[in-house]
Amino acid sequence: MEKELHEHPLVIGQTLQRMVDPASRRVMLPEMPFDLASVPRAVITACGSAFYAGMIGRYWLEDIARLPVDIDVASEMRYRNPPLTAGSLGLLISQSGETADTLAALRSLREKAVHILSVLNVEHSTMARESDVVLGTVAGPEISVASTKAFTAQLTVLACLSIAAARARGTLDEAGEDALVSALLDLPSRAAEVFTQGPAIRRMAQIVVEARDVLYLGRGSMFPVAMEGALKLKEITYIHAEAYAAGEMKHGPISLIDRTVPIVASAPYTPLFDKTLSNLQEAKARGGRLLVFTDTKGADRVSAIAEDMVMLPHVHDFVAPILQTIPVQMLAYEVAVLKGTDVDQPRNLAKSVTVE
Ligand code: M6R
Repeated sequence: MEKELHEHPLVIGQTLQRMVDPASRRVMLPEMPFDLASVPRAVITACGSAFYAGMIGRYWLEDIARLPVDIDVASEMRYRNPPLTAGSLGLLISQSGETADTLAALRSLREKAVHILSVLNVEHSTMARESDVVLGTVAGPEISVASTKAFTAQLTVLACLSIAAARARGTLDEAGEDALVSALLDLPSRAAEVFTQGPAIRRMAQIVVEARDVLYLGRGSMFPVAMEGALKLKEITYIHAEAYAAGEMKHGPISLIDRTVPIVASAPYTPLFDKTLSNLQEAKARGGRLLVFTDTKGADRVSAIAEDMVMLPHVHDFVAPILQTIPVQMLAYEVAVLKGTDVDQPRNLAKSVTVE
């Protein structure tokens, strides 16, 4: 897992190389047997971390491409029988391309005459064979049970897909595309800088390892990042963790807060920073210990309230969830090392879940 974590900058760069034309700096997707301009709706489905990547993809597709998106975990999507107009887009996301629930969801979407586009890391997988089009993540083999680099590669593909869909649908002009592509192309070097924060992440791990329960918080596209952080922690450290949309705290989970329940928050300086900070202040006022992932622009205000923080480079809002994912995964890894659990092969889990 440690090796794969360190491959984040590389795989983001490799995936971009496949999706962005270096001369024109425009997103270039493979030929598709349907037109993104006329797709009435997208349905995203996946499991585990791939599902959280899909949640971030939904923010982008709705916001930039103005495409209505429905999303559900694959193991539930199949039972909902959602009414879908023929010609809608089924967007499946999977590292392995073999996950039984995602494959079953693909087949049930296929029966509804939707176009099947899959974002896959293993390009010769069952899902690849059954899709109309595959967008490959160039993450290389991912061996550790906990998905890391495949997740940021999935986000990179979904970001490019959102840009391409926005261009096709006339919701993004050339200057807008240029700004988003520049932010993406800048990411591999910004991602490499995250590893300088190792000491701060290890300090946070010393606090988290003592906890029985941990709350992860985020707003907007940082909410799925919080979910990814909580899943990684549960998966490899066996510490109970829950992710909440920061604004939901006051509707229940705030009653859990005391000194024994650390709060891990993803709060880069985006338009949602002030609101996230005010949620964190509410938690602090109730005795919460705040461990915050922020960026250079948010650091001053975060340091005034947080017990500890990790300061990442400030990047465009669009790519912030990709960058912010790296330290939450690193935190889970460091806690697992402190606990002495089997980081790469956690109990009860398989890399690829091929049973429903
Ligand atoms: O191969 P897939 O991407 O379809 O796998 C989906 C999930 O099983 C997977 O993301 C799982 O949640 C990981 N172990 C998370 O780290």
